[in-house]
Amino acid sequence: MPRLHERVPVPEQGESHPPAMDESAATPGGGAAAAEQAPADSSSKPRRGDAWKRRDVKARLLEHMVRLRSGLPGWHVAALGNLAKSEAEGVRVLERALPAIRSEKLRTIFQKHIKDEHRHTAGFTDLYEKLSGKKLERSGAEPALKMHVVGLFAYLEITELRGEEMIGNYYRLYQDYPEVQAFMQTVLRDERYHASYLHAQLEEWIRDGIGKEVARARRAAARIDTRGFLTQLAAFLGVLPRIVLWRVFGRGVGRTEGAHGSAG
Ligand SMILES: [Fe+2]
Ligand SMILES: [Fe+2]
Repeated sequence: MPRLHERVPVPEQGESHPPAMDESAATPGGGAAAAEQAPADSSSKPRRGDAWKRRDVKARLLEHMVRLRSGLPGWHVAALGNLAKSEAEGVRVLERALPAIRSEKLRTIFQKHIKDEHRHTAGFTDLYEKLSGKKLERSGAEPALKMHVVGLFAYLEITELRGEEMIGNYYRLYQDYPEVQAFMQTVLRDERYHASYLHAQLEEWIRDGIGKEVARARRAAARIDTRGFLTQLAAFLGVLPRIVLWRVFGRGVGRTEGAHGSAG
């Protein structure tokens, strides 16, 4: 669940949302179970039935920003370290959220989601350490925000969608790193599935009669997403002079992309 800039949410323990955690939410043919695992490919373009994934202005701008940054020396290695940290942050969010998920079937899906994010963390960490020859330093910061289950799912829906878009963008920038691309294909498949099951679950809850709550949660998630985008934009503007200088004068200008900079 790549996310490079955002404080992370934690659902309030024990908060009750009766329709939200109902068994029907995860039964075959409905809700989360309706989101089937997609085959791996590198396309981040929406498929048929994925109209909600239409790329917005933020997604298009982020794609350009990451492409421009990728021209800086050292970017490809540093970005892998940032991806590993971002995935680790995702694990912490999901693990803190798990106790609030009451439906057994939904818990099973959520646990698989956690397992996927662990695998992404380990994979990006290994790739970073192999290519950089350095150990990755991780922050142990705990998730800070609190939100209820519907709010969490709405937040994760947009976060996973951004992750899917981002990995799709990154994939194209690693054409000289076949091992990284091979791993990213598997991550992209997972992120696509995560975004889809979360979306399907929220749609299921709308049909269950809590449409207003879902809409409110999605608006709140969109605001967090916009704040995150603005943070990324500010970071990009900070390195823009270096990108321009590097493009004009080439080697010898500025430092390389550090492992602590934003991957985006
Ligand atoms: Fe994910
Ligand atoms: Fe992930």
